[in-house]
Order: sequence, then structure tokens, then C-alpha cells
Amino acid sequence: MPASWVSPAFFVSPSLPSAENLLRWYHVHRRILPWRAGPGSLPDPYHVWLSEIMLQQTVVATVIPYFHRFIERFPTISDLAVAADDEILGLWAGLGYYARARNLIRCARAVAEAGGFPVTLDGLRALPGIGPYTAAAIGAIAFDIPVVPVDGNVERVTARMFAIEEALPAAKDAIAVAAARLGAQAAAQSRPGDFAQALFDLGATVCTPRSPSCMVCPWRDGCAAHARGLSADLPRKAKRAARPVRRGTVFVMQDRSGMIGLRRRPPRGLLGGMLEVPGTDWEATAPPPVPPCAAHWLDAGTIVHVFTHFELRLTVKVGRVAALPGGIVAAPPDTPLPTVMRKALEAGLAVLDERSPK
Ligand code: ADE
Repeated sequence: MPASWVSPAFFVSPSLPSAENLLRWYHVHRRILPWRAGPGSLPDPYHVWLSEIMLQQTVVATVIPYFHRFIERFPTISDLAVAADDEILGLWAGLGYYARARNLIRCARAVAEAGGFPVTLDGLRALPGIGPYTAAAIGAIAFDIPVVPVDGNVERVTARMFAIEEALPAAKDAIAVAAARLGAQAAAQSRPGDFAQALFDLGATVCTPRSPSCMVCPWRDGCAAHARGLSADLPRKAKRAARPVRRGTVFVMQDRSGMIGLRRRPPRGLLGGMLEVPGTDWEATAPPPVPPCAAHWLDAGTIVHVFTHFELRLTVKVGRVAALPGGIVAAPPDTPLPTVMRKALEAGLAVLDERSPK
């Protein structure tokens, strides 16, 4: 066969992946998620908003039980708006990124006061905790605004469909333009909410990061990465600098009645306003471990927790105390705590139980 027989164009551009095909696939394979309206029923903007805030930086499986607990306790956004901060933060504990919970509270109050969510992207973006992605997701899903929200799943699907080889994060602009091309098709424009969620589901269940299931993909024929055997390699990612490490010490204290000593973090900054096990600051070099009171301090090892911008290694000390020192609040051991503090508390209590069971 002459080399000229195969046109280079054959390799370069399969046709645009069909929005209609994807929507047909979604009709059959959509995930059942508690915030999703069933086929033919209208989505509740409160549910859509709450789920999107919870899903920022958190996976679907983790979010589901939190979503149920919130909806059960706060059936409407007005119920959430009038609740005490502490109760909301308590229900949020464990979801991480507490600035999100603070913004959630501010947003609920603003929306309740306004009598409902704004129905434009600009209006949504003006609310606390709602950036361009979240505005697009809520706009598309709750209000059928024709826009494609580009989260990690959509980014991956799009980079593959168009075989975008530039590495992330530099490729973000090119991916956004390509995703908008997908969403510009008539079928997507007529059902923006379903189209967005179909993209999420395709990314989560078929076009997965490491071993995509191309054989069952409704977009295989339109996928440039598949045509070139590149699917699992895209999107490429620029190498990230290693996370810096910070170190500190926490002191788990238990009094005679079994109560734990906790304190509240300052309202701003990391874990703002949340309860914590008292301890030192967190620095590159561990600060001197000055205990909050005299006790027979036992060593409970080190716990490691990964935050977005650093890894925290906390040495855990634990002791029984006759009375908790001033400035420390007594709380039951099952008090809702941020995950890092839950880990530290569990480590401390395990040692205490082991060494001197009550
Ligand atoms: N990821 C982000 N938003 C989502 C949604 N509404 N459903 C499923 N996955 C999502």
C-alpha cells in the first residue's frame, strides 16, 4: 500500500463527539445521587447548591451522607439560614476546608434574605463561596443556563476528546474553549443541566483517570485521544513541587469525668472557627512542645494530615488531668472535630485507654 494512501487527516480529527449520543447514554447510565432530580422532575436549587459546595474538593461518596444529614436537619435554605453557626459547623466537621462551611452559612443567609437564588451566572458568582465553576454548575443544573461547568472530570474528558497535549494547568484555557465547543451543540443547549451531569458521570464512571473504559464509551468514535492511543495519558500534568512539611505538638487532655479539653481556633485562616486539640503552632521546625498544664504526659505517636498546601505532622501527647486548665473548654470525646483533630484525639485516647483503662 503506498504511504500516501492514508490521509494524515484520518489521524487528526474524528468528528465532534455528539452531545445527542452522550445524552442518550446518560438517560440509561446516569448515577442516582440524592441531590439529583429524577428524569422529568425539576431540580431543587437548594439541593444543587448544597451539593456543589460540598463537592468542592471532596468526592461524591464522602459527600452523600453529609448531604443527607444536612437536608434532614435543614429541609430548606431558610432552615439553614436561621441555624446557629456552631450547629452547622458541627454537621460539616470532617468535610474539610472550613472556609467553605463559613461561606455556606453566609450564602444561605444572603439567599434566604433575597427570597431565593439569583438565576444568572453573574448573580450566582456574587454570592459567598461561589466561583466561576460553581456558578456554572448551579446555573446549568438548577436553571438550565447553557454553560459547561469545567471540573476535573470535564477537564479530563475534554482534554481526551480533543487530544489536548499541553499540560495542566497551562492547558486550562484551551480545555475551557474546547468544552464550550462541546456544549455549543444544539442538543446540549437544549438540556444544559443534563449535559453537564452527563459529562460528570462520563468522567466519573467511564473516562476515568488511569484506566478509562473506552470500549463502552458513547464518545469513543469522536475521541481524538482514543484514535491516537493516548487516552490514559491525558490530560498531562506539570510536575508539582513537593508539599512542604509543617510540624507541631498537640496535647490531648482528659479529666476525671471523661471530658476532653478543646479550644476554638481563630475565626480566620485554616480551620477558622473550628474546635481543636490545644497545641503549639505548626512550623517547618517543630516549636518547643510546651504543655498547657502539668500532667504525666504520655507519647501517642505522630499523626500525618495532608492539607492542600502543606503536610502536617503532629506529635500527640496525652494525659489525664484533675481539672482542665483555664481557657480550655470541656467537651465530650465524640464532639464533631475537623478530621486532623479527630485523628489526633483518637491517637491520644487509644494510648490512654491502653495504659490506664478506666
Ligand atoms: N461533581 C461536581 N458536581 C457534581 C454533580 N452535581 N454530580 C456529580 N458529580 C459532580
